[in-house]
Amino acid sequence: MSDIICPQDHPDIDVYAVVGHPIAHSRSPMIHEYFAKETGQAMFYGRIDTPPETFKKVVSDFFAAGGKGLNVTVPHKLLAYEMAEVHSVAAQEAQAVNTLWMQDGRLHADNTDGLGLKNDLERILGSLLQQKKILIIGAGGAAQGVIQPLQAAGAQLSLVNRTLQKALDLKRIFPSLQVHAIDDLAKSESYDLIVNATAAGLQNNSPLQKKTLEKITHPQTLIYDMVYGKDTQFMQDGQELGLKVADGLGMLVEQAAAAFAIWRGIHLTSHQKQGAIQLVRQALLQS
Ligand code: ATR
Repeated sequence: MSDIICPQDHPDIDVYAVVGHPIAHSRSPMIHEYFAKETGQAMFYGRIDTPPETFKKVVSDFFAAGGKGLNVTVPHKLLAYEMAEVHSVAAQEAQAVNTLWMQDGRLHADNTDGLGLKNDLERILGSLLQQKKILIIGAGGAAQGVIQPLQAAGAQLSLVNRTLQKALDLKRIFPSLQVHAIDDLAKSESYDLIVNATAAGLQNNSPLQKKTLEKITHPQTLIYDMVYGKDTQFMQDGQELGLKVADGLGMLVEQAAAAFAIWRGIHLTSHQKQGAIQLVRQALLQS
């Protein structure tokens, strides 16, 4: 596999890629190839591994050579935001970008992570997020990327973070966000959904103590971890408390479907998105 995709190498087909560093683990090519097959779209979707120093040149070269669209992942979402000329509202509020495309000679950018999370939560709940009480844990890029779309869906958002100041910084950007100190959380109300947007699961930690989780949940609360392909401590605690639990694989597929809709003008059906979730779940089990 080449580290750089050259659209000239695929002259008869529209070329897309996901760009990150590292990128070998990315499941985006598998998801987009599946979407393309399902909808009869002739497209090639590859991976580009490039460090931050060369990111902007690689993106410019890709589009100059006729590339149609890029997904952007860690650690480049902020660089992609800086580079883009036209931003969606979601990209503007997140100050981070995961989808790029060229339109009328200008580099356009969106952030479909938040819409992906919103769609996945609604799929799991079987209802809209309007009036739902959601607690986001974390105040990094992953959290910032999902606040605007969840608020736009009518959810009541609260947020906690290990470092309170970072949560308060986000409140300056999103004034209607309710920010709590982690120590005060147990005194707060219960939530319909609790979303882990921290990196704690990757370090085999949970960002909340199980006894705190117990105090702020009710029997219908959904425990959601944005990490996928791993039963995190946070998810295990949720399971032990008898709660409904989900990982972030559905969000991954939904953010990809939203990018696919931007690029190809085609909206995947629930059935097709479910098919992609199953495909990736299978691949994760075998890896
Ligand atoms: P990302 O872009 O993935 O959100 P980030 O910007 O580095 O990454 O943010 C990581 C988030 O995970 C932060 O909210 C961080 O908390 P701090 O702001 O206190 O650093 C949170 N985090 C990471 N490890 C954690 C842990 N072990 N427990 C709780 N929170 C953790």
